[in-house]
Amino acid sequence: MKATLKGTVAFFLAICGLASISVLQQSAAEQRGPEQPILFSHKIHAGDNKIDCRTCHSYVDVSTHPGIPSVQKCMGCHSQIRGRDVEYKADDGTVINIRGEIAKVREYWDRKEPIPWIKVSPMAEYVQFNHKRHIKQGIECVTCHGEVEKMDVVRKTERLNMGFCISCHEQNARDEYHEKQLKDCLTCHY
Ligand code: HEC
Ligand code: HEC
Ligand code: HEC
Ligand code: HEC
Ligand code: HEC
Repeated sequence: MKATLKGTVAFFLAICGLASISVLQQSAAEQRGPEQPILFSHKIHAGDNKIDCRTCHSYVDVSTHPGIPSVQKCMGCHSQIRGRDVEYKADDGTVINIRGEIAKVREYWDRKEPIPWIKVSPMAEYVQFNHKRHIKQGIECVTCHGEVEKMDVVRKTERLNMGFCISCHEQNARDEYHEKQLKDCLTCHY
């Protein structure tokens, strides 16, 4: 009896240990954001230089997906802007040279290759999400993505999980019928 209890407790502690390790690992990775091929700073672009989100994510009002800008779009500015020859310490600890980092953009352009950006908030395939519908409701980028204009490296701030989606749907439904519709499994899942 005693031995079984001890065994059970040990087993329970082992599970808790594993679970907390994986939670810690996950949150550390989420806090940093993925390592991108070029350190592109939203803080420098959208914050310091006040470039509007829609200059680069042009489809956010009109389509399901906001789109990630092409190298051509970057070159619209960076064929002229070569950048200052200064060191810059990003919020993930990486130190870059501004001019050196911009030179990498030009290299992709010369090779005619797209920049292989890594997705920050991949959404499961079985979830349906439409930007246009939400933007039309006047919901701001910051509600779901956090203060991107203050981040060098974009990381996931709000957990874009089911509870987050549903609690806003609950709060913003116009009436009972609308609420039922917005919480219906098939609204979000194919
Ligand atoms: C000068 C162009 C530019 C501007 C301006 C810009 N972005 Fe971006 N954005 C990018 C690029 C390039 C990426 C892909 C690299 C990365 O994740 O940092 C990206 C990625 C993102 C991502 C991560 C998407 C994902 O899941 O992978 C979010 C969220 C985002 N931008 C939101 C914003 C918001 C909000 C603003 C305005 C405050 C903004 N962006 C302004 C170019 C831009
Ligand atoms: C509307 C103009 C504009 C566009 C479009 C633009 N940039 Fe920039 N970018 C700037 C300015 C201004 C700076 C600051 C230069 C400085 O401080 O010397 C900058 C700095 C940079 C830097 C160095 C700082 C950092 O973020 O690491 C990189 C790298 C960079 N841009 C990459 C890109 C990429 C990649 C794109 C396309 C996705 C892009 N830029 C689009 C204006 C622009
Ligand atoms: C109601 C929540 C919500 C709002 C508001 C919102 N987004 Fe998103 N965004 C998401 C979700 C969820 C994803 C992941 C969707 C996916 O991968 O299909 C995403 C993905 C993105 C991506 C990555 C797209 C890609 O193809 O990789 C960018 C860029 C982005 N959002 C920019 C913006 C900008 C800019 C705004 C404001 C104009 C904005 N978002 C407003 C929830 C939101
Ligand atoms: C900040 C509030 C808010 C958040 C967060 C939010 N939504 Fe919504 N969503 C709304 C509102 C309001 C509507 C109603 C829009 C309408 O009636 O046109 C809506 C409508 C929808 C619809 C129905 C649109 C259609 O095509 O019929 C889907 C699907 C949806 N949301 C998915 C999601 C998913 C998935 C997430 C989480 C990743 C999410 N939403 C997060 C406010 C939100
Ligand atoms: C407002 C949108 C929305 C509605 C309504 C919704 N879901 Fe989800 N669901 C999501 C999102 C977002 C995820 C998380 C995907 C991810 O983490 O990548 C998810 C994930 C799931 C998963 C995967 C396991 C998990 O918890 O991550 C299951 C199963 C699921 N939903 C079932 C349902 C069922 C059953 C209903 C109806 C009772 C429902 N969902 C209603 C948005 C929604």
